Amino acid sequence: MLGDVYRACQELTLDQRANVVANAELYARSELLSDSGGHDWWHVDRVRRMATWIGSQEAANLFLVEVSALLHDISDFKVTGNEDSGRLAVLEFCYRNSLVDVIGNFVSDIVARVSFKGEGVEDEPLSPEGRCVRDADRLDAIGAIGVARVFAFGGSVGRPLWSPEGLPEEHRDRESYRSSKSTSLDHFTEKLHLVEARLETDAGKRIGRSRSGFVRDFEERFKTEWLSPFES
Ligand code: ADP
Ligand code: NI
Repeated sequence: MLGDVYRACQELTLDQRANVVANAELYARSELLSDSGGHDWWHVDRVRRMATWIGSQEAANLFLVEVSALLHDISDFKVTGNEDSGRLAVLEFCYRNSLVDVIGNFVSDIVARVSFKGEGVEDEPLSPEGRCVRDADRLDAIGAIGVARVFAFGGSVGRPLWSPEGLPEEHRDRESYRSSKSTSLDHFTEKLHLVEARLETDAGKRIGRSRSGFVRDFEERFKTEWLSPFES
């Protein structure tokens, strides 16, 4: 099965592959340019660069990694409210670009499985290429950029920075994760602190360790400034 998709890629000329990557980039740029909630084009560009870098250490097929990374947030569930819209948009893209079904199915499978769906929802198994994209997407949710994205997203949907009176929520399914009413800082417990343990590639884990350390330090400092302002 994996062999089939690698063979199908080898049958494409270098020019054909470059063309598909360029079209995927155009598609992602046009669809995501105006998002201010942390899912903008530059998020996709960072994920593409990180995923191909991880892929080069994991001996993954870099064409499949790059195309999947570029398309991973297209027609996302959180924007369309439709479970299947991302997968369908990717299948259409592959069809428009004359890619054979085995490639279309492979890439759309990755896109459908990348997203984080809440603490209680287990990650679905992915191909080696998919693991590179999922790790890259998760790494962009932690570190300094991840912290910035939490408050950008939180602000865009009217969430307060934090409340010392509330508690983080535990999300057993995708719906409760999506409809969470908790604060931006609570989202650290609901997602950011869980990311490191869910990384699957060696290269991703290495970077995750340092970025997670930063997130923990940030949270501690934030709470100290809030709760013991005269000591910070
Ligand atoms: P993805 O689809 O990339 O797996 P999410 O949709 O869960 O990720 O999140 C996209 C970005 O928005 C991430 O940076 C995430 O940390 C942030 N985010 C998601 N939910 C919340 C929330 N309830 N409060 C604050 N930030 C959030
Ligand atoms: Ni993403």
